[in-house]
Formats: sequence, C-alpha cells, structure tokens
Amino acid sequence: MGLRVEAHGLEKTYGDIRAVDGITFTVEPGEFFGLLGPNGAGKTTALEILEGLRRPDAGRALVDGVDPAERDPRILMRMGVQLQSSAFFEKLTAREQLDTFGALYGAPSARTDELLELVGLTDHAAVLAENLSGGQKQRLSIACALVNDPDLVFLDEPTAALDPQARRNLWDVLDRLNDSGRTVVLTTHYMEEAELLCDRVAIMDRGKILAIDTPASLAQALDLPVTIGLAAGALTLDDAASLPGVESAALEQTGIKVLTRHPSEVLTALAARDALDGLSVRSGSLEDVFLRLTGREYRA
Ligand SMILES: Nc1ncnc2c1ncn2[C@@H]1O[C@H](COP(=O)(O)OP(=O)(O)O)[C@@H](O)[C@H]1O
Ligand SMILES: [Mg+2]
Repeated sequence: MGLRVEAHGLEKTYGDIRAVDGITFTVEPGEFFGLLGPNGAGKTTALEILEGLRRPDAGRALVDGVDPAERDPRILMRMGVQLQSSAFFEKLTAREQLDTFGALYGAPSARTDELLELVGLTDHAAVLAENLSGGQKQRLSIACALVNDPDLVFLDEPTAALDPQARRNLWDVLDRLNDSGRTVVLTTHYMEEAELLCDRVAIMDRGKILAIDTPASLAQALDLPVTIGLAAGALTLDDAASLPGVESAALEQTGIKVLTRHPSEVLTALAARDALDGLSVRSGSLEDVFLRLTGREYRA
C-alpha cells in the first residue's frame, strides 16, 4: 500500500543560499512523516525534490526505489501532490475540478463524490473554485491530490493561513488519509500540528535536519521538564516551590506554574494536599525541542 520515500544527502543551492544542505532520511511505507521548521528552513525545496519536481545539486531521492525526477508513470500514478499555492483550472466548480483532475488519471467519476465528502465540500460542489474560502480551497487542493487514490501523498503546509476551526477540520481529514495505510509526507511550521499528526518528524532549520524521531521521543531524549499548572489559590508560591520533585515555581496570571522532571512525585504531593482541582500537565513539546536544539525561540 504505502510507498517508501528516501532522501540521501540531498543538497540544493540557490545562488548563495543553501536551501537544502545535505539531508538524509527514510519515510517508511504507511508512515505519517512531518518536515517541521520555520519559514525558509528548506521544507518546500526538500519536498519538491522528493516529488520529482526539482533536481537536487547533489544526493538522491527515491520513491519506492525509483528516482521521482524520472517521472516514471508507475510511480506518478501512485503519488498525490498538493502544491503550496494551489493551481485550479479557471471557471470550474469544485466538482468539475475534481472530475477534470480525475479524468487525467483515468479515475472513476464516482470518486468525486467520495472526495467532496472526505474534505467536507459536498455542500459546495457547485461553487466556482475561485469563490471558495481560503480553507475550502485548501481542502479542495487536498482532494485534487487524492483523485488517483495515491499510496503516497505529499502535502506542503496544508493548513497554512487557515483559522483554528478550519485547521482542526483539516487535521481530521489528514488523520483519516493515513488510516488506510497511505504514506503521508507533510511540511508544516506548526508545532502543534506535527505533534498531533505525525508518527515521526524531522526538525529542519537552515537547510539541515537537526533531529528526527517521534515527537514524544524527541521531547524525552532531551529530558525536558514537565510543566504542571496549578489553579490560582490552590497553594502559595512558597508551598509550590517546596513540593518534592519541583525544580522551579513561578506565579502566572492563571495560577502557579511548576517545572519538574518527576511529575508523579509532584502529583502525589499535590493529591495529599488536596490541591488537584484545575490542574494541568504539559510534557515537553516540539517547541521546547526546537529551543533546545537551536538556542532560539521558535519563529513560525
Ligand atoms: N526558486 C528559488 N530561488 C531562489 N531562492 C529560493 C527559491 N526557492 C527557495 N529559495 C530560498 O531557499 C530557502 C528555503 O526555501 P523553502 O524551501 O521555500 O523553505 P520553506 O518551505 O521551509 O519555507 C529560502 O531562503 C528561500 O528564500
Ligand atoms: Mg515552504
């Protein structure tokens, strides 16, 4: 079902800019893989090389063992590509866009209804693509990438510029894509998105991969502290700071925030003090990982 994607020492330079500076990784069949990094990190360039749309200066890309730049129809027919700036045919409705893309691939036209349903555009099937909202266009472009029922889907910042609700809806769609065993390779600059969707992420910055693993393992390997939030008034700041296992405690607007590498000790102590109401626990996130790896705040 899903296809394997390999990047072997890929490099791409534009003038003085090393957009992709020697990246190597493998995406396993059926994996949901994220390329995560701030704007300009080199995500799109890397993706375009893997899609076969751009030739690397050095290194090799492979999809199912074949160089995607060779445009081998056996590979192309099994690949779906959602481009960052979606290009629709002019003056066609959402349904017609999908019918037209489908015809190019020889896909059955019944598939259009299925795809409209999948991306939640059934009610907008008769709307001209140019009149759809930003989020609807984004979803239509994903549907277009799926007309050939691909085993491998590339998505370049599929939720960029969406409002939070539209982003959540799209996450559901993307999650379901992968359920059926497709390989999904997505770029994003949203930490939250990568954490939620991806089996593994490569953290990219300035053309290089800084780390690559599951979101949980990345956070764990760096031994990041867990943040426990206490409701205002649950404890005094001094009491919170002196709980067993607490490294630091700070007063915030919503209450007290404590950092610990021994959350169970802290939670046990809080339970003994009957101070669990309104408590929140957050483990180290990709945002913390990025900060640790680069020494810089994450700039989305
Ligand atoms: N066609 C191009 N010509 C010149 N520079 C480019 C081109 N495409 C990308 N770049 C530069 O390469 C770097 C990486 O860009 P890109 O791959 O688009 O990163 P990302 O998708 O992570 O934002 C950036 O500095 C960008 O300005
Ligand atoms: Mg990009």
